[in-house]
Amino acid sequence: MGNSICIENSFSMRSNSCGELCAQDIESDVQLCGWVDRCRDHGGVIFIDLRDRSGTIQITVDPDQGKALFSQAESLRNESVLQIVGKVRARPSEAINTKLKTGEVEVLASGLKILNPIKGNLPFAVSIHDEESVKEELRLRYRYLDLRRERMARNLTLRSKAIKTARDFLEEEGFIEVETPILTRSTPEGARDYLVPSRVCEGEWFALPQSPQLFKQLLMVGGIERYYQIARCFRDEDLRSDRQPEFTQLDMEMSFMNQDEILNLNEKLIAKIWEAVKGVKLSLPFPKMTWHEAMSKYGTDRPDTRYEMCLKEVSEIVKNMGFKVFSNAVKAGGSVKCITVKGGNDSISNVRIKPGGDIFTEAQKAGAKGLAFIRVRENEEIDTIGAIKDNLSPENKHQLLRLVNAQPGDLILFGAGETQIVNKTLDRIRQFLATELNLIPKGNQNSCWNFLWVIDFPMFEFNKTENRLEALHHPFCAPNQKDLGTLNEWKRTLPNSRAQAFDLILNGLEIGGGSLRIHNGDLQKQVLETIGIPLHQAKEQFGFLIEALEMGAPPHGGLAFGLDRIVMLLTGEESIRDTIAFPKTQQARCLMTDAPAEVAQDQLNELHITSTAKKQTD
Ligand code: AMO
Repeated sequence: MGNSICIENSFSMRSNSCGELCAQDIESDVQLCGWVDRCRDHGGVIFIDLRDRSGTIQITVDPDQGKALFSQAESLRNESVLQIVGKVRARPSEAINTKLKTGEVEVLASGLKILNPIKGNLPFAVSIHDEESVKEELRLRYRYLDLRRERMARNLTLRSKAIKTARDFLEEEGFIEVETPILTRSTPEGARDYLVPSRVCEGEWFALPQSPQLFKQLLMVGGIERYYQIARCFRDEDLRSDRQPEFTQLDMEMSFMNQDEILNLNEKLIAKIWEAVKGVKLSLPFPKMTWHEAMSKYGTDRPDTRYEMCLKEVSEIVKNMGFKVFSNAVKAGGSVKCITVKGGNDSISNVRIKPGGDIFTEAQKAGAKGLAFIRVRENEEIDTIGAIKDNLSPENKHQLLRLVNAQPGDLILFGAGETQIVNKTLDRIRQFLATELNLIPKGNQNSCWNFLWVIDFPMFEFNKTENRLEALHHPFCAPNQKDLGTLNEWKRTLPNSRAQAFDLILNGLEIGGGSLRIHNGDLQKQVLETIGIPLHQAKEQFGFLIEALEMGAPPHGGLAFGLDRIVMLLTGEESIRDTIAFPKTQQARCLMTDAPAEVAQDQLNELHITSTAKKQTD
């Protein structure tokens, strides 16, 4: 008998999820809840696609089931929240939808209750399947609607599974999860801090943690031995598709383990996640490359090793040639390097390499002033624009072509000048051309997950603007004992020491980084002094750490993975925004809550703050 109201006092709201119904459920009485994905009136019969997180099921409302029920179905709007009672039945064979998990069955409704009707207009259709057609701005403004869509539900589910797998693995390995403070002191991870004013301590500020770095080290001093945390971190830095101001690290720290043991454990953890989430068995151990090799072969410390086109240094060959751009670069202490584009003579025209061309523009963006090139012809003949050809002796030409393994048809692109800029330029062009020339293998096979540990980073790099050394990772990384020597040599040896630090790179993206830490107070002071923090300032900023290091700190080390980045790669998304439920925009705003926002003057007074911001005028 038709009944427009579901059982009011039913024990539970639903008997099943929409997406789980299948042929086995035929003839079952079910009670479902969900959103109206779509409604279609097919000449007297109304079909409702009812959707919950598990999927969509077709509900059929037949006029034979009662007038009241039917007219209620007629008035339904998309995204209203419904409760349905009915019986599962097989769809007629011509109506089977093989694309839908539940496509063999439908539910003949005998009752329907609107749990919440829609008021006003929806900003976009949730059921729309063409993802690109909805602007990201709109998706972020109405994120709760966006989250109802399959893509976001899938991404968040995968994220949750990755976290659970990590937790299970780490707990099994003896790690315990410990929460560290959010209101804390500034931790130097290289970005600007988000600051929080203190009401009770006038004029003083908390910083939100850029990472739990110091607390996790203090947990080791506290004897915790194996710590992990799904840790929220805050960094006020320029945003990109793989950077958010508020992001999540899978963070850990461990005592009494050497670098190889730490890397070993972590690649097992990564393999577990890949197996659980993607069903892919990664081959272990992951390859390792020193920082030095990465910089020289790829021009970057996060090389994408899925394709070749490596950088070759040719400084020795060209240092005495008459082409001044090359020889002067070497004489000034810089270098000349090149990449060889296989078959580039056909695929890349001169217009693109010359000023105004797209490849030239890429080079410029990396700081290069020009982009020299050679086209390799038969019999070691070459074509160039400009003076390279006339100034390259046959012997040097032969040496060069051999060194870069050039074949007829290849195009050689050069960077000359300050080594850092040369590396940056050729790295950028290498990546640009790899996408453009389809050199990156696609798909889900093992070969497409190119993990790489980059190890042996230098402790410091020179900051030209500030004219001082700064820590390449952070100033708590332990130097390599072999480079450091004895206590009285530290001052001299430290600046050029390698750090016992490592990054995990996946397909050219840095997904994690860590190090062994300094557990000796004197060495910590020396490192801080090397980056320009004198003792009195070190004591003021990091006194608590130095003190702790002198009270029985065990040898320890650890690392942090960028969880959002890992999920981005696992889901195949191009931005970490699509892996975070409520992300910020490139301008670090939340479009949904419209944060950040102004606050009342009273609040500022209470916090002892006077704003110097210019008032926005409409
Ligand atoms: P690091 O600064 O390298 O190391 O950060 C670890 C990893 O976090 C991710 N990451 C980010 N993800 C999204 N948005 C951001 N703004 C962002 N910044 C970093 C990256 C990176 O590899 N305390 C050290 C770790 C340690 O030494 O144990 C740290 O935070 O994937």
